[in-house]
Amino acid sequence: MAADPFDQLMASADPAMIVVTAAADDDRSGCLVGFHSQSSMDPHGYAVWISKANHTYGVVLRSTHLAVHFLADTEDGRRLAKAFGTRTGDRVDKFDRITWRRGPQGVPILAGCDHGLVGRKISTLDDGGDHVTVTLDPVEVWSRQAFTPLRLSAVQDLDPAHDADEHPDHPR
Ligand SMILES: Cc1cc2nc3c(=O)[nH]c(=O)nc-3n(C[C@H](O)[C@H](O)[C@H](O)COP(=O)(O)O)c2cc1C
Repeated sequence: MAADPFDQLMASADPAMIVVTAAADDDRSGCLVGFHSQSSMDPHGYAVWISKANHTYGVVLRSTHLAVHFLADTEDGRRLAKAFGTRTGDRVDKFDRITWRRGPQGVPILAGCDHGLVGRKISTLDDGGDHVTVTLDPVEVWSRQAFTPLRLSAVQDLDPAHDADEHPDHPR
């Protein structure tokens, strides 16, 4: 059967993969994300799209800052993609076996991620889809040299812990 044209377009664009983390009160969470983009040039802006089905979604809504970790196409990058993209904070603490530190407002910053940013949340948009848009004002950015990103095509065999249509108000 022919591929759905929209799916084919998105697969061909082959986005870089990131891990988004957040903290609120004593909770912390994070998930693998393929939906993200620069959203403003001056001032710098960044946007990520978080699934309403994810544990991370609830923590993101209550947090003031998010960390965006760009994964490199290395063994470490693939390990983090698997750890954050196939397990859910509903059942496990993804932070218990990895090294991380508290960044601004307690947002978890993962050790060994040499490229990333912490952004202050500016807005959250729920347009009725299964993901919400979160726009960010980057307050800390780190990346000392160019790198080869881990792309969707390298991790498309991963099985997400949640399907996007799992959230309670999904029309199905
Ligand atoms: C290749 C791939 C891309 C993904 N892209 C996104 C995304 O853009 N946004 C999102 O919220 N979840 C995305 N996910 C799903 C979450 O990373 C996954 O369901 C995760 O296990 C949820 O963890 P949580 O319930 O602890 O938040 C993706 C998963 C995979 C495998």
